[in-house]
Amino acid sequence: MFNVETKEFKNKTEFYKHLNKQLTYLIQDEPDTLANLANSASLIGMLIPDINWAGYYIYKNNELVLGPFWGKPACTHIAIGEGVCGAAAETLKVQLVKNVHEFPGHIACDSASMSEIVLPILRDGDLVAVLDIDSPQLARFDQEDEKGLLETVRVLSKHISWTL
Ligand code: SME
Repeated sequence: MFNVETKEFKNKTEFYKHLNKQLTYLIQDEPDTLANLANSASLIGMLIPDINWAGYYIYKNNELVLGPFWGKPACTHIAIGEGVCGAAAETLKVQLVKNVHEFPGHIACDSASMSEIVLPILRDGDLVAVLDIDSPQLARFDQEDEKGLLETVRVLSKHISWTL
């Protein structure tokens, strides 16, 4: 189904197993938070097919602030409750948006983006950041992507110290 750097994957489950394993190897022995956020954003951006942006908004001073990412420059501050990222931060629930133009308040950082998934990252029950991934395809993300990426954020929560 996927061909990621010549490696074939039967389905999304197999693909996300691969991604999450690579991610664990990449960050588990590195104590520096910024280095891990930068490398993990790059890995996610390079491995997931058909996306145009992947990165972090960090929760600080009761708002979201742009963190390390892969893709074009993006907006730097997002209020809690604003846009897809702000909705994920406010509800602490995954936002899976099949068509961003139908999401009230969606913030268009790149006009090419058509669909988006945002996952809150919690550490000891508290919000530390959101992981945002955008695609130029409509309905790029489904429940299988959500399942695989929920494991991705578990890896990120566990292996990053989140001291910024
Ligand atoms: N579309 C997001 C803003 C961030 S960019 O996609 C990188 C939102 O509505 O929150």
